[in-house]
Amino acid sequence: MTNIAHFTFARMPEIHFGAGKLSLLPQLIAQRGARVLLVTGSASFVKSSRYEQLKRDLEDAGIQLFQSTVSGEPSPEFVDAVAARFRAEAIACVVGIGGGSVLDAGKAISAMLQQEGSVVPYLECVDTKKHDGKKTPYIAVPTSSGTGAEATKNAVLSHIGANGYKSSLRHDNFVPDIALVDPELTLSCPPDVTAACGLDALTQLLEAYVSSKASPMTDALASNGLEHIVAGFIAAFENGQHDLSARSHMAFAALLSGITLANAGLGVVHGFAGPLGGFFPIPHGVVCGTLIGAATRANIEALRSDAGKHRIALEKYARAGAILSGKTASTSEAGCKLLMETLDNWIDTTRIARLSAYGIARADFPRILDKSNNKNSPVTLDRQQMQEILEARL
Ligand SMILES: [Fe+2]
Repeated sequence: MTNIAHFTFARMPEIHFGAGKLSLLPQLIAQRGARVLLVTGSASFVKSSRYEQLKRDLEDAGIQLFQSTVSGEPSPEFVDAVAARFRAEAIACVVGIGGGSVLDAGKAISAMLQQEGSVVPYLECVDTKKHDGKKTPYIAVPTSSGTGAEATKNAVLSHIGANGYKSSLRHDNFVPDIALVDPELTLSCPPDVTAACGLDALTQLLEAYVSSKASPMTDALASNGLEHIVAGFIAAFENGQHDLSARSHMAFAALLSGITLANAGLGVVHGFAGPLGGFFPIPHGVVCGTLIGAATRANIEALRSDAGKHRIALEKYARAGAILSGKTASTSEAGCKLLMETLDNWIDTTRIARLSAYGIARADFPRILDKSNNKNSPVTLDRQQMQEILEARL
């Protein structure tokens, strides 16, 4: 084993993980105050019996409940409107319960309740105003296993359209104060969403694992996260309503993916995600799921063009292949082959949509490529190599 490199590891949320942990929420809120703003999606949680129970428990605990509902991916206008509406309400704590978009919405609202004006000047890629980090305490409660937003310091806000963008509001203080991860909340997540979210978590773990910013700490967490993907992914897709064990593995893998991406960054798939998601109504998890195979193949081929220089990244891809396939590989080539076989197999099994299903055409490639990047990929792909990834999944 090689020497341990120097590294820095960012702060983490206080984590409460396990089936039934939602019951802790009223007391966790009460520790911060008696007025809570609950941010949810328009779909499942607010229609569930758990929501009615939570409202009763909050009332019993003497906590006054304010609510906001986000549909789809949060826009800057939505965050501005909610922050303006609740600034005078002395909110002690914001709680986001939902998928990645809801968690990002709650994170951004908690970051703007104590600021004046719009969130727009603070968005990366839009303006350069620095946020001072002052925010209202935030508890993130995921109901899907994907983005890992319960552990990250950024909130992605979206303008979808011809001049669309996705941009992050980011500050070290925006890591949620608490991540309350209750796998029971993911049981009702439908198979297509389970697949897309799971492939997002897988992509985040794999991209963080081979990232140029990876550290011994992120390597340990990312490789372990991949083991939990193996343990849960297909079972959660095929029998997710009943398989709490599979859901738990995926919830843990997603949590680890958020921790690792916050510390090691991401790669070329996420370098495509901003423009693709900004220009077209394609869910983030579908972007990841549809591109991860072609992007990994392109990365491995590019790394092999100078295999001596890129030995460590190729060995990591090979180890990921062994973990995800559950097979042993005696050479780096064999491990990378296992990785590609497994990714191709999972993409086929889960029937992840192609780009054209969301109206993306070859004529759109130039403007997509203009805004895409390699992020912290272990090798830099040129424009032609990037275009071939899109071609492979059109
Ligand atoms: Fe992602």
